[in-house]
Amino acid sequence: MEGAAVPDWDIAVEACMPQRHEDFFRANAGQPWPAEHARLAQQELETFASMLTDLGVTVTRPDVVDQRKSFSTPNWSTPGGLYAAMPRDLLLVVGDTIIEAPMAWRSRYFEIDAYRALLTDLFNRGGKWISAPKPQLREEWYDREYDGLTPYETGRYVTLEHEPTFDAADFIRCGRDIFAQRSHVTNQLGIDWVARHVGDEYKVHTIDHTDSSPMHIDASFMPIAPGKLLLNPGRIKEIPEIFKSWDVRFAPEPQLPKDHVLYMSSAWVSMNVFMVDEKRVVVEAGETELMRLFESWGIEPLPVSFRNVMRFGGCFHCVTTDVRRKGTLESYF
Ligand code: ALA
Repeated sequence: MEGAAVPDWDIAVEACMPQRHEDFFRANAGQPWPAEHARLAQQELETFASMLTDLGVTVTRPDVVDQRKSFSTPNWSTPGGLYAAMPRDLLLVVGDTIIEAPMAWRSRYFEIDAYRALLTDLFNRGGKWISAPKPQLREEWYDREYDGLTPYETGRYVTLEHEPTFDAADFIRCGRDIFAQRSHVTNQLGIDWVARHVGDEYKVHTIDHTDSSPMHIDASFMPIAPGKLLLNPGRIKEIPEIFKSWDVRFAPEPQLPKDHVLYMSSAWVSMNVFMVDEKRVVVEAGETELMRLFESWGIEPLPVSFRNVMRFGGCFHCVTTDVRRKGTLESYF
């Protein structure tokens, strides 16, 4: 969260927002976030990082980048960036390849810079490192008439199909299978680009949802462990055929107080948990119902306070990108 800035308000941002804070964004674009919220979020991130380290995880943090610098391309300019808090959005890890995502929000165009040193290090240690084509994000390549209520029925998302765009967090991995959603930031070309680049070893499946402001699959559809899938009851109406033999459960209503300010997401980031392994899950400390569900599933919840991080659009899954796990590549279907 250090150096973070309020992103510029534009149509791509608007489409993804379950709650509208348009006046706040317009008044503060390119400026720091409210200091107290940012400071508390930073503290929560430190606590989570220490906890993972104590659990034996190697945690590497991004570089601090000042996001309050304006930048432009030949097609547009923006008063600043956003943050380096959500690597899950930016980086898709598939086997020993790490892919930089072509983000649809202009403010996120250079967000990857905070991860350059880390990516170079992974490359030096033998990883494969590629970036999807940098998108142009031209004004006329966003649909001004996008459907803000039922884009999943009309197919009218804010991103059109002139070039591939995707956020890595619209994809979620399960061994050889990768699940993706069409969203306001991930278009069909983006899904096709990933499917073609990951090769025959992996299969990309598209998941149907009923999210009216879709951005990132991991508060809607969360594979938890082999044979266990957690779904958002309001967004995934039908259990995909491939999961018919799995134990599929629906997440309880989030317990976040209704007046808790969330700048960029819904309260369903409660589902955005982090699996330490198949038996341990990091859950927001106030989500006692969700913890109960995990316990009944034979999974130990590890509670961590994260409500200030949640204000900024994500939770434990979003703020991490696991580049290496123990175990071997498997097929779970
Ligand atoms: N965009 C997702 C939500 O707001 C994370 O629930």
